[in-house]
Amino acid sequence: MSVLAVAGGAAMAQEPVLSGGPYVPTPQRVVEAMLNIAQVSDRDFVIDLGSGDGRIIITAAQKYGARGKGYDIDGELVERSTLAARKLKLEQQVRFETRDVLQADIREATVITLYLLPDMMHALRPRLIRELRPGTRIVSHDFDFGDWKPERKVSLDLDEKYDVTGSWSSTIYLWTVPPRTVQ
Ligand SMILES: C[S@@+](CC[C@H](N)C(=O)[O-])C[C@H]1O[C@@H](n2cnc3c(N)ncnc32)[C@H](O)[C@@H]1O
Repeated sequence: MSVLAVAGGAAMAQEPVLSGGPYVPTPQRVVEAMLNIAQVSDRDFVIDLGSGDGRIIITAAQKYGARGKGYDIDGELVERSTLAARKLKLEQQVRFETRDVLQADIREATVITLYLLPDMMHALRPRLIRELRPGTRIVSHDFDFGDWKPERKVSLDLDEKYDVTGSWSSTIYLWTVPPRTVQ
């Protein structure tokens, strides 16, 4: 996996050891499908790890009434997300923070959303199982957790991703954090 080359500058608050990949937005139709598959409602607190322009968290708040938080390593994207949320008067419902996802506090989540490369998915997996409450839903765009089998796997055909990713479809995966085992 590539180590993120950080050129410096105010937008980057820290240097991650591991990059989850560049900024590629999830198409809005896929965002809504992810939130539907996770059955997000106004009782949920959604955390997007690597939140890009904030669209998943903003949609969760705007359309589903959820609260939420996005973490991204790129300070400019975090600023853009914060401004978008303020414009929509969602600042009581959502927050964005510049932070490495491997250092992010995820304990408040009832739903986690991900669109991160496979090495980051694998690096996050033990933390997700250890730190999230049993029953928390995890929904991912295009990348899975290898041998942790998803409960649902849904594919959507769409044109808008092709120019950026070379793919005509998106796959959405859903898992639920299992009950803790007594040691
Ligand atoms: C593929 S984009 C997904 C953006 C958004 N979640 C979406 O689905 O539209 C991945 C995002 O993860 C961020 N990212 C990559 N590595 C990261 C890390 N170690 N910590 C925090 N954010 C990271 C990138 O800056 C980028 O915005």
